[in-house]
Formats: sequence, structure tokens, C-alpha cells
Amino acid sequence: MDKGTSLRSRLALKNPLCLSLDVAEPTRGLDLLRTVGRLSGMVKAGPVPFLSWGERLLRDAEKWGIPLFLDLKWHDIPNTVHDTIAHLPSPAIRMITIHALGGPSMIRAARRACEAMGADRPALIAVTALTHLTTEELGEIGLPSRETAVRHLGSMALEAGADGLVLSPRELPLARSLWGIEPYLVTPGIRLKDSAIAGDDQTNADTPKAALRKGADLLVVGRPVLQAPNPGDRLDAILREIGTP
Ligand code: C5P
Repeated sequence: MDKGTSLRSRLALKNPLCLSLDVAEPTRGLDLLRTVGRLSGMVKAGPVPFLSWGERLLRDAEKWGIPLFLDLKWHDIPNTVHDTIAHLPSPAIRMITIHALGGPSMIRAARRACEAMGADRPALIAVTALTHLTTEELGEIGLPSRETAVRHLGSMALEAGADGLVLSPRELPLARSLWGIEPYLVTPGIRLKDSAIAGDDQTNADTPKAALRKGADLLVVGRPVLQAPNPGDRLDAILREIGTP
């Protein structure tokens, strides 16, 4: 059995939707976790919810058995990243992110800390180039293009021990052609045909169905659900669209 297959069966998510709980207000966040989060395969928390109501988020995720994706995108010296992961505050945390730009020694240290947790360790996912970066900005960093950044940083991160990568839907075909089925691919930039987001900052967005067809394992969905008049109904509609009851 390849590593990717065993990671997928170890995570055993009930569906490939990950609700991005980008909510600062604890009462609303906990309500969404309890209602929409419980219908989702996974729930993602970034720094905003984690710093404002992280303790309650962890407590309730544990109580309701909701797998958490802690998206804090660590990028630090290997020792600090290792110790951060070694002290993760809850077994509900099943997925974490690091920046590939931290380099191979940082990624290897992160992987060692994950391995030390045993069979139920969290999945280690690397970010290559953040989606807001334009070609011009990538050039200022010293990266000639998004495709080069994904290719180069992605290969390095997977070789150093990342289980998978965060990629936009547009990058999925390239990723599957380069690295095959093994890496676990997490994809934000999910949009529904009939619901526009005001001031949308997602570039290269795609529908849930198209992203899965292109090879995504996990679809990270935030505003299309959070801004819906009824977030639970919206999540149900997405699950129906992808054929998951
Ligand atoms: O756009 P949406 O609200 O669905 O975003 C869900 C997640 O996608 C966010 O929490 C963020 O991690 C990620 N995102 C991204 N690029 C953007 C905007 C958001 O990768 N430009």
C-alpha cells in the first residue's frame, strides 16, 4: 500500500469537504462548528479563530469528534517547528501546515515530530506559493513563475517528508502529472456556479466537482458557505453536487 493511500484511510474523512472556519466571534464560530462543522469531513482553523477562541474550538471538536485542520503555516527554524508540532494541544488536530520555503531541514524536523506521535499522527501539508502573490511579486522573491514555485518547492517538500501540498484548482493537473496519486492535495479556491462572493480575492477558483475531477483530495470551502443565508443548506447542496450524501 502506498503512503498516500494509507494516509487517506488513516484520516477516514466522511466527505472531502473542509469547512474553513474563518470566524473571529466565538459564539458564531462554535455554532457553525456544531451545525455545519459536524456535516463536514474536516474543519479548518487559521490564526483568527485559533487565537480568539481556540481553546473552546479544540474542546468542542474533541467532544463531537470533528477532525481539525490547524492551518497556522509554520515557517521557523527546524527546532522550533519540531517542538511546536510535538506540543500540539489536542488529538483532534489531524492536519497541519508548514511553508515549503522553510526548506528541507525544517520539513524533515516537522516530519520527525509527526512520526513521534505514532499511527494517529497529523498529516503534514506544505504550502508552496501563497495565492495572493502575483508574477511580479514572485519575481521580487526570486521565483520566476507560479508554475516553477509549485514544481520546485512542491518536489522539495514532498521529498523532505510532507504528506501533501496546498494548491489552487488550476495547479492540480500539473501536480498529479508530476507526482502521481500519492501526495495528498488540499485545494482552496472553491466556488459555486450560482453564488458570487463580494470582493472575491480567490484567483484560479473552480467548482467542487471540477476540483475533485482534477485530483483534489480535500476541498477547503470558506465564504461560499459562511456567507450563505443558511450555511447548513449550502453545505448540503455542495455535498449533493459532489455526490456525497
Ligand atoms: O475563499 P474562501 O473563503 O473559500 O477561503 C477558504 C480558505 O482559502 C481561506 O481560509 C484561506 O486559507 C484560503 N485562501 C487562499 N487564497 C485566497 C483566499 C483564501 O488560499 N486568496
